Amino acid sequence: MNAGGRPINYLRISVTDRCNFRCRYCVPASPFTVIPHNEIARYEEILRITRLACDMGITKVRLTGGEPFVRKNILSFIQQLCAINTLKDISITTNGSLLTREKIQALLDMGIRRLNFSLDTLVPARFEAITRRNRFDHVWESIMTAHELGMAPIKINTVVIRGINDDEVADLAALTLNFPFHIRFIEYMPMGESHLEKQQQVLTAEIRQNIETRLGPLQQIPHRANDGPSKNFQLSGGSGIVGFITPISSHFCSECNRLRLTSRGYLRPCLLNDYEKDILTPLREGATDEQLKEIIQSSLKHKPLCHTLGQQRPKDMPISHMTSIGG
Ligand code: GTP
Ligand code: 5AD
Ligand code: SF4
Repeated sequence: MNAGGRPINYLRISVTDRCNFRCRYCVPASPFTVIPHNEIARYEEILRITRLACDMGITKVRLTGGEPFVRKNILSFIQQLCAINTLKDISITTNGSLLTREKIQALLDMGIRRLNFSLDTLVPARFEAITRRNRFDHVWESIMTAHELGMAPIKINTVVIRGINDDEVADLAALTLNFPFHIRFIEYMPMGESHLEKQQQVLTAEIRQNIETRLGPLQQIPHRANDGPSKNFQLSGGSGIVGFITPISSHFCSECNRLRLTSRGYLRPCLLNDYEKDILTPLREGATDEQLKEIIQSSLKHKPLCHTLGQQRPKDMPISHMTSIGG
């Protein structure tokens, strides 16, 4: 598969729009609508779409949410995903709060070696202020357990927000001096109904400067497979990697190899462009494999060469939030 000259080999699957956290930059504090269960793609439906996409060139899948581990029977779904033998890389982005030693070991036993954790602070009280949940200790323990049990590389995603955690970037980067983790600082993207003020967005140049002032120069390291959109650096003497994901200050659309499947069963060729193509309804109405492949192929015609944050959405299109797209 190909979109505007870019090979498409990476499918990001949001398995649920539900999440046990309420991160301030992601969701409102007040009750918000979740997608009714019957409108969420069932595991066998996701598996069918994934197998077809793999026939068409997908070799890498990432499970996202909401929080993937809130969905029932996720481990047996992952087991079935692992049985697709053309899939070379399966990984999961999680907030880590529902993981246990047993689940991490079960993932390793299935062949999952890579977990990306969302963690915006190392201060428990701040963690609670950001996520509206008191789960820092558990999340930290999950990261440590994954490390002890041999998950590698472990990536930590930090969305940097002015006035909330921007004074902590050097402390987070310093983790790479003691652990082989990839700490990746992400520029906040104002999605759909944005939840932060524009002034709270912090761009990479500022984050990098704060880190270098405290910890010394960051040496750029060559781009490697699995780095994705992250530009990676190392601190002198560090065993881990400090990465920057720069969708705002320097977009990476020309190298984008991703297609997304939202929890509602829509194909989404770009995170930041609201075009989505319903594949679940045709599947439920009896479409053949060939017809479904045609839908996958045609969705890619709508993959923009460059994102257009905030573009007008066609009136009949449901609003997708970060929780149902999966980041
Ligand atoms: P690896 O496979 O480990 O490289 O992971 P990844 O970086 O693809 O996945 P992860 O879910 O950890 O993504 C980190 C963050 O990068 C996401 O949560 C988004 O904030 C951002 N991101 C990922 N993919 C895209 C993309 O296609 N476009 C934009 N603008 N941002 C993205
Ligand atoms: N901008 C940037 N990153 C975001 N994430 C969630 N919402 C946003 C946003 N608006 C990140 C989370 C997590 C990943 C799935 O997406 O921190 O690491
Ligand atoms: Fe936070 Fe991720 Fe849940 Fe959004 S989906 S509320 S970023 S943990």
